[in-house]
Amino acid sequence: MGALDTAVRSGRALYAGISSYSPERTLEAAAILADLGTPLLIHQPSYSMLNRWTENGEPNLFEALERVGAGSIAFSPLAQGLLTDKYLHGVPEDSRAAAGTSLSEDHLSQDNLDRVRGLNGIAENRGQSLAQLAIAWVLREQTKGTPVTSALIGASSVRQLEDSLTAARQLDFTEEELRAIDEFAVESDINLWAAALKA
Ligand SMILES: NC(=O)c1ccc[n+]([C@@H]2O[C@H](COP(=O)([O-])OP(=O)(O)OC[C@H]3O[C@@H](n4cnc5c(N)ncnc54)[C@H](OP(=O)(O)O)[C@@H]3O)[C@@H](O)[C@H]2O)c1
Repeated sequence: MGALDTAVRSGRALYAGISSYSPERTLEAAAILADLGTPLLIHQPSYSMLNRWTENGEPNLFEALERVGAGSIAFSPLAQGLLTDKYLHGVPEDSRAAAGTSLSEDHLSQDNLDRVRGLNGIAENRGQSLAQLAIAWVLREQTKGTPVTSALIGASSVRQLEDSLTAARQLDFTEEELRAIDEFAVESDINLWAAALKA
């Protein structure tokens, strides 16, 4: 935290942020930064329909962030590509799962693919692609003041980027849709950053 404070104080950075800290460590980090006089602005957690660790605990990460007045940027909202239509009919040659980079074929278990198919059906009923649904879902509480400030997406083509950016046109969900999503949006053992939370 001393290094972050120095970076801001010396003008090398505008704001201080942290990533993949547990709720407890986040509260600790925010207190240290506050003592130093540099507020914690943002936390960058992994968060998606298949990776919901930020919702667990007392307080959970979002509650901890609200307590200290910080926002959060959810990274990998597409679960590295799993929460898109690209693995519905096998593993495309040009995909991350084929290359084994940050998504392995182990993540494409039958259970996970069943969840992806279920979520894809809900996306179709909303007139969205699965990628658009996945991004809209992490941003769903934005209008109610909870601290999911933005979604940090990746893309390997302009077509993907254009598809994903369209998510912002439809961020509203009915209670019925959220309940239907919860049936499939469960922990799926895809959080590559889980070890960092124990540090
Ligand atoms: N703070 C941290 O520790 C941390 C850790 C990881 C990442 N990050 C940041 O978060 C950013 C996003 O991470 P990520 O790239 O893993 O996120 P992601 O958005 O969950 O996954 C992006 C991948 O999904 C696929 N994809 C994207 N849009 C698509 C669409 N519309 N239709 C079909 N497939 C689509 C592409 O896979 P293919 O490449 O297979 O086509 C793309 O590479 C990174 O750039 C990085 O800056 C931060």
